[in-house]
Amino acid sequence: MKMMNCLQSWPEPIVRVQSLSDSGIHVLPDRYIRHPSDRPSFTPISTHANIPVIDLHSLLAARDARLRQATLDRISGACREWGFFQVVNHGVRPELMKSIRQLWRDFFHLPLEAKQVYANSPATYEGYGSRLGVEKGAKLDWSDYFFLNYLPESARDENKWPTTPESCRELVHEYSKAVVELCGILMKILSVNLGLEEDHLQNAFGGDDVGACLRVNYYPKCPQPDLTLGISPHSDPGGMTILLPDDDVSGLQVRKGEHWVTVEPIPDALIVNLGDQIQVISNAIYKSVEHRVIVNSIKERVSLAYFYNPKGDLLIEPAKKLVSKDRPASYSAMTFDQYRLFIRQSGLWGKSQVESLKCSQ
Ligand code: OGA
Ligand code: NI
Repeated sequence: MKMMNCLQSWPEPIVRVQSLSDSGIHVLPDRYIRHPSDRPSFTPISTHANIPVIDLHSLLAARDARLRQATLDRISGACREWGFFQVVNHGVRPELMKSIRQLWRDFFHLPLEAKQVYANSPATYEGYGSRLGVEKGAKLDWSDYFFLNYLPESARDENKWPTTPESCRELVHEYSKAVVELCGILMKILSVNLGLEEDHLQNAFGGDDVGACLRVNYYPKCPQPDLTLGISPHSDPGGMTILLPDDDVSGLQVRKGEHWVTVEPIPDALIVNLGDQIQVISNAIYKSVEHRVIVNSIKERVSLAYFYNPKGDLLIEPAKKLVSKDRPASYSAMTFDQYRLFIRQSGLWGKSQVESLKCSQ
């Protein structure tokens, strides 16, 4: 009971990061200043490191079996080694990507009062938000966001979507349809690569009852970017994420061992990463990799993260085919609803949540 109560409202008044940025402060408020060990380091480990870039043309259009297998193998390698890859020729129209990104940029440029109408609460997170988690006094990220549910249809409430810019609802529909279709294709590819039936992952996620929700991230310019983070280190809790990054500002960093690799955006590419639920179903053959966002003092950044998730009340557990004597189940079963509740209370804590599901053996 207590838990439900504390999710109805935020523990402190919400401060929009955008208004802090616009106020022209030169010194970051304490709430945004990280412990020195958590601050971003601006020394690149290697100027050449980047997550794999994969052309999906051979899977979506071409009929060459050898090329097809080569692409499957590259995706398999990316899932095992990085948990992240970029895709090109993915079927989502570049003009649609450009217009939806511009639309959300325009939304965040509306006057504060226009956006406050959509102010969210921790009960559902839908709407305009500036924090994750309800822990009083927690360090805050240097970003605002807009969150909305698309699937299942029963969770979709278009009244909570912006009406300005005018084409918002229509474009969100169009973009969502395209991304959900791409996710369906990727789920098949991942299933086959894991040696499972083609429909395994989709079925484990609830077939037609999957969840899909969008978080648009807005990272305002920051006066002291070396002291803070746009998003704390985390792995995505759901199934799979399709990220549409800003076209000319980088910021996303992916963990590779002890290092953070900055992802360089490629024109018209989408970034795919695996979430905790796929780590569990794959029995840790695939990893949901930690990532974070750094900000800068020169340019704002807008990104759209589409989360493709299991239906909330299904038990998610390692696929039987991937469990053996030599490779016992690494995780116990849990529903995504239970898992998400846990995260929404505590905020983002690196990979601590999926690790805490681990069976002790
Ligand atoms: C997220 C996320 C990265 C980005 O929203 O979960 O990791 O580049 N976003 O905005
Ligand atoms: Ni993320």
